[in-house]
Amino acid sequence: MKKLTILLAASEVVPFAKSGGLADVAGALPKSLRALGHDVRVVMPRYYIVDKEKYGLKLMEGSLGVPMGPLGELWAAVYEGVLPSSDVPVYFIEYDAFFGRKGLYDEEGKGFSDNDNRFIFFSKAVMQLAKKLHLHPDIIHTNDWHTAAIPVLLNTTYAYDENFKNTGTLLTIHNLEHQGKFYKGAMDILGVGWGHFNAGELEEYDGINLLKGGIVHADAINAVSKKYAQEIRTSEFGWGLESLINEKAYKLHGVLNGVDYDEWSPAVDKLITQNFDIDAMGGKLACKEALQRRFNLPLRKNVPLIGLVGRLAEQKGIGLLAAAIWRLMELDIQIVLLGAGEKWAERFFSNVAVHYPEKFACYIGYQNDVAHEIEAASDMFLMPSLFEPCGLNQIYSLRYGTIPIVRATGGLDDTIENYDAAHKSGTGFKFYDATPEALIGTVKWAVDVYNHDKEGFGALQKNAMQKRFDWSEAAKGYEAIYEQIIAGRSDT
Ligand code: ADP
Ligand code: GLC
Repeated sequence: MKKLTILLAASEVVPFAKSGGLADVAGALPKSLRALGHDVRVVMPRYYIVDKEKYGLKLMEGSLGVPMGPLGELWAAVYEGVLPSSDVPVYFIEYDAFFGRKGLYDEEGKGFSDNDNRFIFFSKAVMQLAKKLHLHPDIIHTNDWHTAAIPVLLNTTYAYDENFKNTGTLLTIHNLEHQGKFYKGAMDILGVGWGHFNAGELEEYDGINLLKGGIVHADAINAVSKKYAQEIRTSEFGWGLESLINEKAYKLHGVLNGVDYDEWSPAVDKLITQNFDIDAMGGKLACKEALQRRFNLPLRKNVPLIGLVGRLAEQKGIGLLAAAIWRLMELDIQIVLLGAGEKWAERFFSNVAVHYPEKFACYIGYQNDVAHEIEAASDMFLMPSLFEPCGLNQIYSLRYGTIPIVRATGGLDDTIENYDAAHKSGTGFKFYDATPEALIGTVKWAVDVYNHDKEGFGALQKNAMQKRFDWSEAAKGYEAIYEQIIAGRSDT
């Protein structure tokens, strides 16, 4: 196929800045697209935490004018670097009044009050950057609400701009819960004209909804798993946008994320105590002992150790876990939790650790090396999510022979196959009801298999470790969407 010029815009990109899986995707997908021969470039904000020296970022000549309506024209600096171990250029939009802060979107759990201006600015800067570079993208690939204004801008402000004559847009929805809803005054900053402030485009309950605008205006939409692409068409998972998404179902796709196995493989992982692999599992026990030591848990080889890593957000089922935890503590198990987020959850789980120091340990904070250690050391990995667009941790777990216990929703349902004792098949344990009882029952089932069906547990580990969710596959899925977008545009 024709080699495409693709500009991927995201609010976070590994390794420069990350709060969740979006950064993993934005850091990995471009490399796989590059490997398919495309000219791919990435653009993100230059947050305070993006270390210019460490990544050797170079200041581009000249500054970038970004028209911001009543705020006038603001001037951004642009830095240039590459995605590590690749030649994929990454452009960083620097404007300290917006991005020179410690948090990406919030501080101390409180969202910044000018997030509308920050990300409308960023979206416009992406367009202005393409012009400055004389880059004529075939595709601008946008992600979540932060960059969802781009398809709107392309179809309005830039509709007759020669630079974008052949440009189409894709919006990937990583999480429909967050839509970028703001006071309608942001329409003036966006500057596409109040004519677009209507229920069929950007307006919702008299406010502006940026993701909604993106869904309407993008040439195609992708949700990050097949199941999630179905779920967001229902009122349970649609966050109020289900009718719109149903209306746009003709352009909705469900390409599953891949994972970066250079980062997440027990045979090569530099952040774990001892490497191991499917035919040499000894290192996993060493990792388990090291984790127990690190968290002051009793050093017991045969106790089922359950790991949890993630944002402490309602989405992740922390309410279910909190409701179940005292009954789980009656079992002979150990749990290690790593996470940060909702303050009540941080306090609650820290308190569980105080009550059950021999069974429950937690680390409140964000720590990549600990995440790797937990993946490597645990026997099982718990993800009781209420919804999960894709989920990456359960996929990492598979590779480490750490058996996922998941609620069957979104990507969790698509990536994990339930254990079948009769055929010794499957890769994990699934439950369906979002209830503490279902969660507890499934943990008990997993613990029972671990303790009394060693052959079955061994088979689960083997099945899990053989599974692959390569980015090269996912990139082909995206390539197919890009092709459709381009074909669609040339039809009109
Ligand atoms: P989400 O994007 O909803 O947070 P994903 O499962 O897609 O969920 O991705 C989460 C990513 O963030 C994983 O790479 C996970 O290891 C990482 N992560 C989440 N919380 C933490 C934490 N407290 N410390 C280290 N890594 C974390
Ligand atoms: C979101 C979702 C998560 C998904 C990630 C990357 O943050 O919550 O399920 O894996 O984006 O697409």
